[in-house]
Amino acid sequence: MILLDGKKVSNDIKDEIASQVKTMTSNGEKTPHLAAILVGTDGASMTYVNAKVKACERIGFNSTLIDLPEDTTEAVLLDKIHNLNDDSDIDGFIVQLPLPKHIDEQKVLKAVNPDKDVDGFHPTNVGRMTLDLPCFLPATPYGILELLERYNVETSGKDVVVMGRSHIVGRPMSILMSQKRKAGNATVTVVHSRTENLSHFTQKADIIVAAIGISEFLTGDMVKDGVVIIDVGITRVPDETKARGYRLAGDVDFESVSKKASYITPVPGGVGPMTIAMLLKNTLLARSMHKS
Ligand code: GUN
Repeated sequence: MILLDGKKVSNDIKDEIASQVKTMTSNGEKTPHLAAILVGTDGASMTYVNAKVKACERIGFNSTLIDLPEDTTEAVLLDKIHNLNDDSDIDGFIVQLPLPKHIDEQKVLKAVNPDKDVDGFHPTNVGRMTLDLPCFLPATPYGILELLERYNVETSGKDVVVMGRSHIVGRPMSILMSQKRKAGNATVTVVHSRTENLSHFTQKADIIVAAIGISEFLTGDMVKDGVVIIDVGITRVPDETKARGYRLAGDVDFESVSKKASYITPVPGGVGPMTIAMLLKNTLLARSMHKS
C-alpha cells in the first residue's frame, strides 16, 4: 500500500509557485493577490481560510481576509463582492462555504466575476469545465487529479466510483474524470444518498473518491483488493483524549480499507493540502490572465 502524500505533493507545488512568483517580481511584474471572504465563526471554515492565507504568505502572494459577522446581510455580502470585482489589485477571490442559512449561496456565487472566480464555482466556469474549455477548475477535484497524476495512477479505462454529488467535489470530479485528459478517460459512476446497494458499486471499483461527509463510512468489506482510495472527508469527531476535544476523521475507515488498497490518501495530509495548493495555482493563472 502506498500513501498518496498530499502534504508532500502540495509542498512541491507551493515551491514551484514560489519560484515563479520570485521570477515574476524580479521582472518587475505585480505580485499575485488572493482575497477570501469568511462569513461567521464556523470553526472548520476559520481553520481552512486561515490555512489559505498562511499559504499565500509562504509562497510570496499578497492576501486579504475579509472577516464578516454571522448576521451579515446578503446585500452587504454582495456589496463586498462587487468591491472585489472592481478592485484591480485583486487577482482572484473566494467566498468560503458554507454560508449562513439566511444567505442565498447561488446568488452569491453568481455575483463573483468569473475572471476572478479562483474557486471555479461560478456557472460560467462550471459550464466551461463541462465543455472542456479553459477555466478555473474547482480546487479539490483539481487537487485530486494532480495527486493521481503525480503518483502515475492509471485512470484510463478504469471503473471510478465517486461517492457524493456535491457541487464542490462529487459532481465536478465525476465530470473531470470522464473527460479526455490526464487522470481522466475513466468510466465513472456517481453514487449518493439514494443509491440502493451501494456496496454493489464500490466492490467493483478500481478507484473510489469518497466525498459524502460521513466519518469512516467506507469499510474494508465494501472494496476490492488493489483499490485506489481518495478520501475527501474531514469530519470533527468528538474525542476527549485530544486536547482540542476532537479528532479529524475521513469518509474512509483507514484501518480496514488500507489493508486492501494499492494507494490511499491519509486524513489529514491527503486531499486537504492539495485543495490549498490548487487554489494558489488558480490565483497564479488569474494573475497571468489579467496581464493581457
Ligand atoms: N468549503 C469547502 N470547500 C471549499 C472550497 O474549496 N472553497 C470554498 N470557497 N469553500 C469551501
